[in-house]
Amino acid sequence: MKSLVSIGDLSRNDIDTLIKEALEIKHKSPSKIKKVLNEKKIASLFYEPSTRTRTSFETAAVNLGAYVNGFSGTEGSSVKKGESLLDTVRMYAGYGYDAIILRHPLEGSSRYVSEKINIPVINAGDGSNSHPTQTLLDLMTIYELKSTLDGLKIALVGDLKYGRTVHSLLKAFELYNIEPWLISPENLKMPQWRIDDYVRATHRNPIITSDLKTAIHDVDIIYMTRIQRERFPQGIDGQLEYNEVSGIYKITKALLEKTNKGIIIMHPLPRYKHNLEISVDVDNTKNSKYFQQAENGVYMREAIFRRIFSEGFEGRLKDNHNSNLASLWMDLEIKNGSKKGNHMLYRLDNGTLIDHIEAGRGLTVYKILKLDKYQTEVVPALNLNSKTYGKKDVIAINNKFLNPDELYKLALISETATVNIIHNNRVTKKGKVVLPQSLDSLIECPNPNCISHKKNDENTGTRFDIYLRDPLVLRCHYCGTPVTRKNLNIYDSE
Ligand code: NCD
Repeated sequence: MKSLVSIGDLSRNDIDTLIKEALEIKHKSPSKIKKVLNEKKIASLFYEPSTRTRTSFETAAVNLGAYVNGFSGTEGSSVKKGESLLDTVRMYAGYGYDAIILRHPLEGSSRYVSEKINIPVINAGDGSNSHPTQTLLDLMTIYELKSTLDGLKIALVGDLKYGRTVHSLLKAFELYNIEPWLISPENLKMPQWRIDDYVRATHRNPIITSDLKTAIHDVDIIYMTRIQRERFPQGIDGQLEYNEVSGIYKITKALLEKTNKGIIIMHPLPRYKHNLEISVDVDNTKNSKYFQQAENGVYMREAIFRRIFSEGFEGRLKDNHNSNLASLWMDLEIKNGSKKGNHMLYRLDNGTLIDHIEAGRGLTVYKILKLDKYQTEVVPALNLNSKTYGKKDVIAINNKFLNPDELYKLALISETATVNIIHNNRVTKKGKVVLPQSLDSLIECPNPNCISHKKNDENTGTRFDIYLRDPLVLRCHYCGTPVTRKNLNIYDSE
């Protein structure tokens, strides 16, 4: 694995090795650093503002001997003329660049690009989703200060909803014995699915509170964050939401003096100068480590480049639930092959009988499969008595057999549906549809900031991966947003 898209892709060994290498680089004299990127060209594509991330990446690349080009803000590029992300990135690959550093406002942008071009992509921040290299330099700093990452109580404070740095950090905490404290106002809480991921991976619950003043006495590290004003909804709603939380948490020297003397204060920076979340009088205390943290960015990014241009990452094993089930069909016993749908108003001699749809969902199946557009006879029957389910809906489709996408759509809407294929008066095949591990362009991503969302016109199509089969949970392959049968929207390709 050569790209670095998400911290969730890395193993603990990958992270520990990067930290070790970055610290080695930090303590070596610059003249001793091997120019392992000689003759390499690095594209630095920053669609969003950046000071530290961009500069430290570019400095790291230059320190290792690379040539760097790209843009900082889209003002001077063809993005302004309406060019898609993929077209832009393809150009850099075509001009012989050896890697892309990408910061982009859409979630999942790096994942998407990394699967479309054959040079490594390093995610330097994708919308609110993630910021893996920031997490690596954060962990490096913690390790540098504490000589371990295990056994620590670390509070993530502030905007846990829109802040990408804390999303990646919590994901990394899955690999360590860390006690996370999630401190935020109610409307900026860590998305529940990210907490669920953490709990599923560790079998431990993070401590969730809005009370920083109490927590400060208990934790070893405060990781402060800026309220991500630019990610709030546009207009008056966003303004009101922001007014409620602006300036809500403040670390001051006076506050620190009342607390645990060894507490470490970190921040990915920038801090907001008009309403400081860490007051400047903290800067000169021995607790403040955010400038050291920022400086570590260069060393960590050198370590990342070195790794990408040598053996790459070993990667984190994904728990792939039931991936062996990936096939279209599970046969069921045909008990009465000549039944032909006679138990309904309609006798089906040739075609498809969809049986055992949950009562109330038959018309959804009818609508989503666009059965009204069929030229043949289609007979939905609702609220029939069922031995197994009490009530059920059934649809008979004359002279028509569903294609795989239609069968998958059926299985997404209905958990219990069985499909009977009838030829010449006999049921020749009966079974349940089994969903494959990934579904392409069948489900819409509910996240409007996802690269795959139609409104962003990146023409990516959508992809969902099965995360759990029972009960069914699917995740957007790009931004990670989960959907279940209850809230999924079938993608309308027309
Ligand atoms: C962060 C970012 O861009 O997500 N900054 C950074 O990369 N150092 C945090 C922020 O902008 O608040």
